[in-house]
Parts: sequence; structure tokens; C-alpha cells
Amino acid sequence: MSRIDRCRNVEDFRALAKSHLPSPVFHYIDGAAEDETSYRRNTEAFQSCDLVPNVLAGVKDVDMSVTVMGQKLAMPLFCAPAALQRLFHHDGERAVGRAAQKFGTMFAVSALGTVGIEEIGRTISAPKMFQLYFHKDQGLNWSMVERCREAKFEVLTLTVDSITGGNRERDLRTGFTSPPQLTLASLASFALHPSWTLNYLLREKFSLPQLEGHVSEGTDIAISIGDYFTRMLDQSMDWSDAEEVRKRWGGPFCLKGIMSVADARRAVDIGAGAIMVSNHAGRQLDGSRAPFDQISEIADAVGGRIDIICDGGIRRGSHVLKAISAGATACSGGHFYLYALAAGGQTGVEKALGNLRGEIERDMKLMGVSRLDQLSRDNLRYR
Ligand code: LAC
Repeated sequence: MSRIDRCRNVEDFRALAKSHLPSPVFHYIDGAAEDETSYRRNTEAFQSCDLVPNVLAGVKDVDMSVTVMGQKLAMPLFCAPAALQRLFHHDGERAVGRAAQKFGTMFAVSALGTVGIEEIGRTISAPKMFQLYFHKDQGLNWSMVERCREAKFEVLTLTVDSITGGNRERDLRTGFTSPPQLTLASLASFALHPSWTLNYLLREKFSLPQLEGHVSEGTDIAISIGDYFTRMLDQSMDWSDAEEVRKRWGGPFCLKGIMSVADARRAVDIGAGAIMVSNHAGRQLDGSRAPFDQISEIADAVGGRIDIICDGGIRRGSHVLKAISAGATACSGGHFYLYALAAGGQTGVEKALGNLRGEIERDMKLMGVSRLDQLSRDNLRYR
């Protein structure tokens, strides 16, 4: 049995990722802002309520498909946007896209992604989401929107929770930057991971192709992700900018990082088709509430008028069922597939998606439902 086959849950993948990656890269994925309370709470929130199953329901055939922004997904969990993926495994976004395609689910490519929009458009048939950071350089923003349209991405998502860099103390401690820099402090860690280091040095040169021709920070100029947000993104971004992005794009549009009911209502007002309820995996505002804790009130306010994605903290199939019972349309996450990507490339991501699909199917049967729309708050009890 391979080491990937032995990974049965997110924690197993995390341990394997830790052994494969130089510590600055591992801690970039694994870390969050300040005391990392929101990051931990994102998963712990699922423990504050219990599932109440029904039985004798005839659950031989289970259909776990959902429709999100017009895209039919074979499972109710998709791969959320995440930056810099070729630093985690040399195949980066290619590996994730191919794995998502096999599982019939959506995957996302970041504005800070390491494989270009055009290549992804040509090679991956899974539903594709592009995640836009609204830069000060307006030309860059509109060029990314245009490139996504030409590459036939299905969904455009504007991240709205990263107006300034989160205080990510692990990155400050390790000196993690994009591109990574060999410093005296990090030298030992790169030397101890020769296969990562050789892949980094000898394979395709690290780059951020969505930014090419506009921004040198992150490729030719090393910068932390926190500083990138603070210096490069447009802090005057407001609702009229979000509406302008939606109009220029013209297709299914999502806002990522919505947490309040008031903002969820405004997302409906500007014509967004979905919101990702998210605190950016606790990497931005530490102390911000967990997405799962916000699902019920947001669903009460805007459910049925906009798709509601519970983004973050998902480690188990039962978490997905709890989020959907509370009113989410579907779930997304980063860590569950990023550790797996670092642990084993495409094979790792497929195993991670397979583990979670297996859990969702088993848990649906144990809950006595054969379709996800049979889940409701009647199935949940808060402690
Ligand atoms: C992060 C950004 C890039 O590091 O999504 O959280």
C-alpha cells in the first residue's frame, strides 16, 4: 500500500505534506492570522451541533449531485481557489484540475495561480471558477476578466475579504515570500527537502502567469502574500466596483468572503449568483466568525435567491451534510486538497476527493437520505 493509499483523512495528508515541503512552504499553507482562532474555529464550529438521522428510508441509491451557479456538480464539495500551487507540487493547478474533472466537481484558479488561464481553459473540462483579486492596476483586472471569458471559464469569483494583508505571523517567522527566497534561516529546510528543491530549480520556472505584463511583485520581486495584498490591491474597492466586475464579466458571478446578512442581501441586489461564506480560512481577520456558524442566518435571509457556499473548515463528509442541513447549497475548501496536492500531486488530490466522496455517501445513507434536498434543519440539533 502506498503512502497516499494510507491517507484516510485530512490529518493524514497534512502529516505527509509536512514531510514533503520545506517548512516556509508548509507553514504558508498550514498557517493563518494571529492566534489562528478563526482557522481552528472553522472546523470546531461543526462540533457545536449534531446530526439527527432518520432510518428505514431505502437508501440503496444515493444521488449527491448539486447545481451551483448553473453547473451540475457530481458531489457537493469543490476545490476552492488557492494561490501558488506549483510551490506545493510541481504539477500545481494542472493536478487539481484533472482530479476535479475525474470527480465531476468544480475547481478554481487564482489570480495568483501558477498555471495560466489559457492553458487551464484548453486542457480541463471540469467546471472552472476564476478567482479575481481587485488590483490597483485596473488594466490588469479587466485583462483577467477578458482572458477568462476567452478561455471559457464558467464562473468568476471576486474575493472581497483581502483588502489588506492578514497578520500571518508564521509567514513573518519563516520569511515565506513569493517567489521563495533562499535565506540563511531557510537554507537548512530547503536542503532537507532535496526533491522539492530540485523540482523547484529544474522544472518549469516559477511564475504567476495571470499577472504577466502588469505586475512584477510575486515573480521578479519577492514579496510576502500579506504585503502583496496591502500594496497591490485596491483598498477603495466597494459595491459599485463589484457590480462593475459582474457587468463586464456578464456570466455567473460569485462574491467570496461574505459573512454578514446585510452583505449577502447586497450580493443579491448586485446580481451575484452565489456567495462563498468565508473568512479566508482564518488567514485575514482573526476573530472573525466561522462560515458554518453564519450559514443559517444567511440562508434565512437570502436562501433560494442566491447559491450559498460554505467555504472553509471542511474536514469530513459529515461537515458537508451539516452545512447543507443548515441551508448551504454546497461546500468548498482549500486545505483538504492542498495537503493532498503536496503529498502526492494528482494522485493525492484524487484520493482526498475520493475519501470525502465516500464519507458523504456513507453519511447520507446513515442519515436516511438519498438526495441532499432531503436534508434540513430538522436534522440538526445545536448543543
Ligand atoms: C492566501 C491567498 C493568496 O494566501 O489566498 O490566503
